[in-house]
Amino acid sequence: MSEATASTPYGTLPTASPLPPRKPVSLPRLHELRQRGEKITMLTAYDATFAAVADSAGVECLLVGDSLGMVCQGLSSTVGVSLETMCYHTQSVTRGLRRVQGTAWVIGDLPFGSYQESREQAMRSAIALMHAGAHMVKLEGGGWTAEVVRFLVERGIPVCAHLGLTPQTVHALGGYRVQGRSEADAQRLQAHALELQDAGASMLVLEMVPASLASAITAQLPHCHSIGIGSGAGTAGQVLVMHDMLGVNLGKAPKFVRNFMDGHSSVAAAMAAYVRAVKDGSFPDPALHAW
Ligand code: KIV
Repeated sequence: MSEATASTPYGTLPTASPLPPRKPVSLPRLHELRQRGEKITMLTAYDATFAAVADSAGVECLLVGDSLGMVCQGLSSTVGVSLETMCYHTQSVTRGLRRVQGTAWVIGDLPFGSYQESREQAMRSAIALMHAGAHMVKLEGGGWTAEVVRFLVERGIPVCAHLGLTPQTVHALGGYRVQGRSEADAQRLQAHALELQDAGASMLVLEMVPASLASAITAQLPHCHSIGIGSGAGTAGQVLVMHDMLGVNLGKAPKFVRNFMDGHSSVAAAMAAYVRAVKDGSFPDPALHAW
């Protein structure tokens, strides 16, 4: 068989996106989307093939989330995920994107224990993720994290913060539950969000906070784009764990998830439907997916 006709074993990556070519996704490009009121789309990705499919389906941001501990490694929480594992998956995702000339913005999650000790430890861990190909790093929590965010941003590392339900501290929070329901908690989250924006965070994942609070936080953060998960439709963008939105869930999917495989016969079509639904505002549905 000639080189030209030989197919690669073990799967092939998409050769061309059905969508018109887009400019590489960058912070200015995300800011542009926000300015014109277009929602930002994000999915988690953990390997080369799914990253390439998500990119060609038009997803703008790929989060190599430490949720991989649960969906890939079979752990019961994200607490046990190591920095080495995060780097391995970040490399896989960015290799997949390179193979298809993908243009998505890649966010690498700093796992539990890789940034809590000191700003210097956070810097070393962030460098490892950037060397693995991430464009931005994500870390969880508010208050003490503002100083860490400032330290990283001043040294050229874009940072996505994460407030609300922060799975790395699930044991301290007492479970996977909605955050910011009381007036005092809502005020604390709003104050933390402002501090994170002031420190230079350019994105903020808001996980499982009431929709009205997520909208209020979004309105107070013109320079830091809120990305909601289970936080209603008023954020600047949306993120879902890929396995959840493909209906590949070992237990009961959380209330805020829609199975985009329903009515679609391929992963590529389901991801494209997710992008369309986020952009046209039909996902999330306030009546079904929010508190
Ligand atoms: O780790 C992850 O995948 C995340 C998302 C759920 C936002 O943090």
